[in-house]
Amino acid sequence: MQVWNDYLSENKDRFLNELLDLLRIPSVSADSHYKNDVARCAEAVKDNLLKAGCTQAEICPTAGHPIVYGELMVNPNAPTVLVYGHYDVQPADPLELWKSGPFEPEIRDGKIYARGACDDKGQMFMHVKALEVMHKTQTLACNVKFMIEGEEEVGSSNLGIFLENNKEKLKADIVLVSDTSMISMEHPSIETGLRGLAYMEVEVTGPNRDLHSGVYGGAVANPINTLCKMIASLHDADNHITIPGFYDKVQNLTDAERQALNNAPFDLKEYQDDLKVNDVWGEKGYTTLERTGIRPTLDVNGIWGGYTGEGAKTVLPSKAFAKISMRLVPHQNSDEIAALFQKHFESIAPASVQVKVTPHHGGEPVVTPTDSIAYKAASKAIQTAFGKDPIPTRGGGSIPIIALFEKVLGLKTVLMGFGLDNDNIHSPNEKYDVVNFYKGIETLPYFHKYYAEMSR
Ligand code: BES
Ligand code: MN
Ligand code: MN
Repeated sequence: MQVWNDYLSENKDRFLNELLDLLRIPSVSADSHYKNDVARCAEAVKDNLLKAGCTQAEICPTAGHPIVYGELMVNPNAPTVLVYGHYDVQPADPLELWKSGPFEPEIRDGKIYARGACDDKGQMFMHVKALEVMHKTQTLACNVKFMIEGEEEVGSSNLGIFLENNKEKLKADIVLVSDTSMISMEHPSIETGLRGLAYMEVEVTGPNRDLHSGVYGGAVANPINTLCKMIASLHDADNHITIPGFYDKVQNLTDAERQALNNAPFDLKEYQDDLKVNDVWGEKGYTTLERTGIRPTLDVNGIWGGYTGEGAKTVLPSKAFAKISMRLVPHQNSDEIAALFQKHFESIAPASVQVKVTPHHGGEPVVTPTDSIAYKAASKAIQTAFGKDPIPTRGGGSIPIIALFEKVLGLKTVLMGFGLDNDNIHSPNEKYDVVNFYKGIETLPYFHKYYAEMSR
């Protein structure tokens, strides 16, 4: 709509500068050193919500980092959209690989470089600015509630309780989230599923103390060697996961569904070139899009032990550790998979070592409907703003709270993400294209307009 475009172009620079201010706050949820910065960021989000037109906004303390809630109710007969996002970010290290400081946002080549630029401050902030656009032009057709949390990157462990305790406050008709990616600006898409997660930590202990690797080496199990062998055995020659029962509940898609998934534009060469790999890797019998979209995986996220300092130290270490995560698909369950992993990992340990398996956070996979009013409104919004129908895709990432929106609040979600897979989220030099930021602010008001119209 013309009024929206006019308002957006008159306020473009300010919108961008306000996002840069938010990106300057190092709201790293995983690291307690940043606790005050996380709290400061929550305050900044609250101020921004009020400035954008929310009649009420508050900081809701939790056992961990606070949740920011805000609302603008315009019409009791209109549907209510609950916008979810997160203001916390992943740690920025390794710092030396950043071209500019992770919390000193810089625009280079039309891209905003900063931790959180895409995941999720940049995308969450599009909703705040879209609200301002609709509010200031008096065109807001839906009631809007915001729930912006500060613990998404550490598993949202306190948000479930918040949902349970605030069912009335959070009453809505749909959850709208921008925290996923689309294929490209030329091929807009909507993710219609997210994978679940089971995250484990393992500790392998050999001898009771570090040993001289010459005096004892070859005669006593080296826990690092043993751990590597155990980890290697978790995939077979076809890269299937070997944990008994792991695939039992995995939903197999029909040939037609798989065909539809593979119709999405995807250039394997471009993918490889971008990552500087000469070949891809994965489960035999599946394409790359299937491997990330509809198949479960197991990856080591970190492994340590022994001597890693300067120079060489001949040591046979006492302990070795690894963090191992599994991405899950419908209808796998994270607790069940964690238990299967634990049982299997303990069973494959040779008598020469002891293993301890500790589960970390988990989350359930979700599939979002494509035949709902909300999906149709999102699709029409993208059609209007991009001039193209969005392609439905399956995302490989996880947002564990989405499954709880349905379970606790009975609400479905629409994932209207504007990020790109190569935005380097969780990685050095995270970026978000300025055009994506503006395009999101342009597109989201159409969602509210069409959703209100279609709900009548
Ligand atoms: N926004 C991401 C998830 C995501 C990214 C979904 C790209 C789809 C496409 C989210 O912030 C995230 O990183 N989630 C974590 C899980 C969490 C429990 C730490 C993840 O997927 O690793
Ligand atoms: Mn995110
Ligand atoms: Mn993330």
